[in-house]
Amino acid sequence: MENPLAHAKALDRADPFQAVGNRFYLPEGQIYLNGNSLGAMPKAALETANKTTAQEWGQDLIKSWNKAGWFELPTTYGDRLAPLIGAGLGEVVVCDSTSINLYKALFAGLSLCPERHVVLAEAGSFPTDLYMLEGAASQRPGLNIRLAKNDILGEIDETVAVVLINHVDYRTGKLADMGRITKRAHEAGAVVIWDLCHSAGIFPVALGQHNVDLAIGCTYKYLNGGPGAPAFLYCAKRHLPHVSQPLSGWWGHARPFAFETGFEGDTGIRKFLCGTQPILSFRVLEAGLDIFSGLDMTALRAKSQSLSSLFIARIKADIPELKLTSPHEADARGAQVSFTHPEAYAVMQALIERGVIGDFRAPDVLRFGLSPLYLSHEDIIKAVAILQDILASGIWQQPRFQRRERVT
Ligand SMILES: Cc1ncc(COP(=O)(O)O)c(C=O)c1O
Repeated sequence: MENPLAHAKALDRADPFQAVGNRFYLPEGQIYLNGNSLGAMPKAALETANKTTAQEWGQDLIKSWNKAGWFELPTTYGDRLAPLIGAGLGEVVVCDSTSINLYKALFAGLSLCPERHVVLAEAGSFPTDLYMLEGAASQRPGLNIRLAKNDILGEIDETVAVVLINHVDYRTGKLADMGRITKRAHEAGAVVIWDLCHSAGIFPVALGQHNVDLAIGCTYKYLNGGPGAPAFLYCAKRHLPHVSQPLSGWWGHARPFAFETGFEGDTGIRKFLCGTQPILSFRVLEAGLDIFSGLDMTALRAKSQSLSSLFIARIKADIPELKLTSPHEADARGAQVSFTHPEAYAVMQALIERGVIGDFRAPDVLRFGLSPLYLSHEDIIKAVAILQDILASGIWQQPRFQRRERVT
């Protein structure tokens, strides 16, 4: 059998994204397997941040709201992001955080089904989604949160107003069937909100094709928008005239600079805005979005699957004590691969010390987000060799790897 490293190098020679990888800053001597948490920094981010601070803010000051188009950035970038998630122009707005956008999307969904009071979500959902539902329920007497333990499809019935579902599970990387779930929800008269945090930027998402009602997601993971980068919200055009959301700040007003006393929401996607947006973060995000212009997302998905399949195959062969919790089938998972180990926290800390950056999710998950934009197959082989060495040597048992940091 061919030597795994030689095989990986051959795959890399045929990699159509090699030049794209060079557009990222990656620290020497590190293998970054955490694109599912915070994407790497596009080199152009420094330039856009400099230009925005030195020229747009420093020189042009308040004029930049018009001159540099600051006021329109939420929809300018929304339209740039739209093709990546299968949305049309005027259906996506970039703003706020995923959690806040979820709150707005939830009430928008409920406003489409005023006679129903049940929100169905996954018990294993990313916690902020559930926490925001709890908060919404505390503000809306009669709202009933129902949690599906396993198969959410079987739980959708005619009482459900809104189905909230994660496109890719943050723990296992399992991909949910957007077409089937959305169709089932619509048959039952419900609307669906998809959380795209772990799918936007790694494969072609088809919101329009599947008739999705609402979606939300972040831009700091696979879209490489930077720490705390603004999130996005999608609302299908057919719903825009009918939906409302409760965070009715002046940026969502039909005429914000008329300074009227009463609120009248914008009729388009701007109705989902609330207040002034963090322009420096927006500009840094632009560098992330630029990377995707003209990129073949189907080819990107193929590379992503090649990386994750190689990672799984090498771990299965060389570190059989690690238990795969992600789907074996490449088509059934996103770009993330997870394994369990009883001492996963300490193992991950030891791995990070050796320059292989993944993360840990309680109680026992080693999580690796394999961004196809800047990782090579050779990186995968090297990372697995280091992980194997850490486990074989038992170095992870040293006390310093047990100390829990606030962010894991
Ligand atoms: C599925 C999912 N939803 C939401 C969030 C976080 O939301 P926020 O951007 O508001 O922190 C995350 C963060 O990792 C996530 O994985």
